[in-house]
Amino acid sequence: DGDAVATLRTPIVAVLGHVDHGKTTLLDRIRGSTVTEGEAGAITQHIGATAVPLETVSELAGSLVDPTDFDLPGLLFIDTPGHHSFSTLRSRGGALADIAVLVVDVNDGFQPQTIEAIDILQRTETPFVVAANKIDTVPGWNPQGDVPIQESYDAQSDRARETLDERLYELIGELADHDFSADMYWRVQNFANNVGVVPTSAETGEGVPDVLTVLMGLSQRYLKDAMAIDVEGPGAGTVLEVKDQKGFGTAIDVVLYDGTVRADDTVVVGSTGEPIVTDVRALLQPRPLAEIRTEKRFEQVDAVSAAAGLKIAAPDLDDAMAGAPVRVVRDRSREEVVQEVQEE
Ligand code: GTP
Ligand code: MG
Repeated sequence: DGDAVATLRTPIVAVLGHVDHGKTTLLDRIRGSTVTEGEAGAITQHIGATAVPLETVSELAGSLVDPTDFDLPGLLFIDTPGHHSFSTLRSRGGALADIAVLVVDVNDGFQPQTIEAIDILQRTETPFVVAANKIDTVPGWNPQGDVPIQESYDAQSDRARETLDERLYELIGELADHDFSADMYWRVQNFANNVGVVPTSAETGEGVPDVLTVLMGLSQRYLKDAMAIDVEGPGAGTVLEVKDQKGFGTAIDVVLYDGTVRADDTVVVGSTGEPIVTDVRALLQPRPLAEIRTEKRFEQVDAVSAAAGLKIAAPDLDDAMAGAPVRVVRDRSREEVVQEVQEE
């Protein structure tokens, strides 16, 4: 039904996993970007956000996805750091997620922050898919480009395929040790009870169509009711960073997970002291496929609806705090919203 389309909110997909296992590279592959190359030591140090429209998902997933099967607007990907010192950011990213991708290097298997990520997913009851990444490093692997994994499997030698299978079964065993029943994703009938494992190479693109397909399937089947929200309602989000935005003064990078923010709204933002009550000066939105963390060019817009990453420029934001809530006041009383922010 066409009417439902406009009101479905974009699902938020958190990408979690141990340091260097390939989270940002996987997103680069999806975005067609090179964010990883710009990172000092390829270490992610902040939460990122990237909107991937449905058209891009379908293009990348190719024959695996029929866009007419889906009426979700796309996916909002949240990149998180895997380095051990950023556990607050991982929890924050996990708390925003509707669904998640757990990225695990097939050679390294489960590592401390893999386990930390899995604990977050368990605690927040977030459905997830495992990207068993870096399959191109399996000895004898013959890279096939960004094709569905079955196609790539068929092109491998018996030896390479067996080595990969061994590693995948080790991974499935490690998931079982953490109370997750898992299997190769093409054998999973019910994703509500079983975790699908997708072999991928973020470097060559193999298996990336499959990850996107599983994510769309998971959202469509298990999130659709949750995504049918009133996206016109007063916006709610989380501050990612507080930064100076050239020409606009201090601005906050925000992940909006509910409702709408308009350019004439009053917002309440959590701070190191009392919540800040301020009038929006400008709303700046990154283009589709741009990483908000590294993007330089933003479009000034009149309104942004969930889920989305955006910059909100407003007076008095200097003491705004990363991780704090952002709430649009709209028809409610300021006091009520200030209290809501204080209590979060
Ligand atoms: P943090 O954000 O710091 O936790 O790391 P990350 O998980 O985002 O890893 P990142 O994407 O930065 O990748 C780490 C290194 O692994 C980079 O040098 C990538 O080029 C490389 N890499 C990532 N995915 C693959 C892959 O599938 N195959 C190969 N061969 N290398 C990969
Ligand atoms: Mg990274």
